[in-house]
Amino acid sequence: MQHGNEALWLPRPGGRPRPGPAPYTAPAAGELVVRARAVAVNPVDAIPGIARRVVTPWLTYPAVLGSDVAGEVVEVGDGVTRFRPGDRALGHAIGQERSRDRAAEGAFQRYVVLVEHMASRVPDGLGYEHGAVLPLGLSTAAAGLFEADQLALALPSLDAPDRAASVVVWGASTSVGSNAVQLARCAGYDVIGTASPRNFEYVRRLGAREVFDYHERDVGGRVVDALRGRELAGILAIGRGSLPRAVSVARRCEGSRRVASAYPTPVTTARAALARRRGVQVSAIWGGTPSESPVGPALYGAFLGEALDAGRYLAAPHPEVVGSDLSAIPEALSRLRRGVSATKLVVTLPAG
Ligand SMILES: NC(=O)c1ccc[n+]([C@@H]2O[C@H](COP(=O)([O-])OP(=O)(O)OC[C@H]3O[C@@H](n4cnc5c(N)ncnc54)[C@H](OP(=O)(O)O)[C@@H]3O)[C@@H](O)[C@H]2O)c1
Repeated sequence: MQHGNEALWLPRPGGRPRPGPAPYTAPAAGELVVRARAVAVNPVDAIPGIARRVVTPWLTYPAVLGSDVAGEVVEVGDGVTRFRPGDRALGHAIGQERSRDRAAEGAFQRYVVLVEHMASRVPDGLGYEHGAVLPLGLSTAAAGLFEADQLALALPSLDAPDRAASVVVWGASTSVGSNAVQLARCAGYDVIGTASPRNFEYVRRLGAREVFDYHERDVGGRVVDALRGRELAGILAIGRGSLPRAVSVARRCEGSRRVASAYPTPVTTARAALARRRGVQVSAIWGGTPSESPVGPALYGAFLGEALDAGRYLAAPHPEVVGSDLSAIPEALSRLRRGVSATKLVVTLPAG
């Protein structure tokens, strides 16, 4: 079946994104196409041109950005077993991955191609704008927590045993952190978070045992105190300035001295070398890795749909809908650059 498609095209790395006609791409084997009803914006979509050349140098232009989408399934490819047309789905659109580099798989368009193993069912009671908040934050948190070369923790499930070990999520009110807290809890770990005081209750609701204010001078000491007598399973360092503080905490705790950083910068490699000499292993997270490892299928295939359905996983952070057409995305990106707090900026798209 043919569908009229439209995409938000980025003509070159520093160019101005504009809506325009796009081809409809039928799903190949293992893929599905969703009619996007809500998309969310992420920092990677908002980076300026020069930085984009550094972060995703392989991307060909014009490109269609966007990782987070929720909508109705309109067509499935050969071998797809978990979805059929008419289903409600969310997914991590992986068009910006080096191995894909494919405009048809960018989220900022009406008809988005997803790979089945990075897509989950959206329960009937959950709005598309809520479903769209999850994918990249979820994948990035999962990459940091579960990939073998990151914290390598046990995977989440609906019946994970309580483990006598703690995970620290530095930046727990971020999108990535909101997912990390929940995933670590669903994997059976005790969680300590950091956030601004206005978000303490929010982070506790996601499952953290204790939350500390990262603005405080001795927040590291308070985190170490909260971990006394427990084994550290690892630290997820999210957000500007979190890595040196996370390394300092890891050095002072018993257990795994691994820190996974979601905010790699040019100095991360130097910091990692320094940390290694002090017995701490620092790794840089890439949110797309679950699409090529067992983590993606374990998460999107075996865990998320059921966990959402059972009310064991929250679609967090809360969506703030900032527009209702592809043309609203550039303003959403401007808003994101100005900063958000425990909020995901979402643009909804019409059903027709
Ligand atoms: N490597 C990857 O593949 C990948 C993928 C996705 C995201 N990221 C990166 O991960 C980071 C988080 O992304 P996101 O989309 O989750 O961000 P986000 O939700 O837009 O981040 C907003 C939050 O950042 C928190 N925050 C700001 N400065 C902080 C600090 N110094 N320490 C702790 N928390 C701080 C704020 O907390 P309060 O309001 O509570 O103060 C706010 O809730 C970004 O740097 C992003 O570029 C990396």
